[in-house]
Amino acid sequence: MKISEHDYYSKLANWTFDDINFESEIYTNWIYEDEIKKHTNSNSKILDLGTADGMKVLKRFPECAEIVGTDFSEQMIESANRNLAISGKNNITFRVMDNLNMNTPDDYFDIVTARHTVTDPKQIYKTLKSGGYLIIRGVDKLDCWQLKKIFGRGQAYNDTKPISLIDYEAVIDAGFKDVELIPLHVVEYYKTKEDLLALLVKTPILDEVSEENNNEYERIAIEPNIFNKYVAENTTPKGIKLIRRYYGITAFKK
Ligand SMILES: C[S@@+](CC[C@H](N)C(=O)[O-])C[C@H]1O[C@@H](n2cnc3c(N)ncnc32)[C@H](O)[C@@H]1O
Repeated sequence: MKISEHDYYSKLANWTFDDINFESEIYTNWIYEDEIKKHTNSNSKILDLGTADGMKVLKRFPECAEIVGTDFSEQMIESANRNLAISGKNNITFRVMDNLNMNTPDDYFDIVTARHTVTDPKQIYKTLKSGGYLIIRGVDKLDCWQLKKIFGRGQAYNDTKPISLIDYEAVIDAGFKDVELIPLHVVEYYKTKEDLLALLVKTPILDEVSEENNNEYERIAIEPNIFNKYVAENTTPKGIKLIRRYYGITAFKK
């Protein structure tokens, strides 16, 4: 059964992975949070698109004048507002907004961030001030490729063009300058097979989902025999290995 991206995330209504035991080795020196810090000062106004339960903004974003976190899932924004109340921060607000139908003011933000979510660079360009930055981190077609291969399916598995290239071209076409596309290579080691399974159940890695088919999610139960085969073939002394492939984009509005 297919479900929309909106319903998929609304059903989850939280996006924390604190209960999953894994370690990461990062092989590239482009770090999303560091890029945000590099361009932020105490007067900066930041818009975080697809903010989910707001935990990234609350825990990892730098101190600045204002942060607005948005998501099209009302349930995610309710979670974000609960997390905000606990944090006691008063420079942050969360509200419902569709990234593809933005209603933020023109020429207002110094930085727009978008981590693992869809974007429309033309609308982002309008809401950024001149001199502002767009910082994107995305999940690329080749993410978890060996795992997807063994299952014969997964996020962006059948895409004709990797999402990183689609985003890169869209950012340039929107008028941004100094556009950089950086492949990010991360290796994760999951402590137990239950930890890896928890990741696969929570995320769309093995789902039939693609921006090429409107981001509709086709959830398929994870076949235990295929999963066990992957675990047997990828168990190392550090844990069960999962090779991730993300991408980063930074772009400047002149
Ligand atoms: C994979 S989660 C990433 C959350 C967070 N940015 C992070 O990095 O942990 C994707 C989030 O984007 C939101 N999202 C997806 N499509 C969206 C859209 N068109 N407009 C607004 N939010 C969207 C989902 O509801 C979900 O909360």
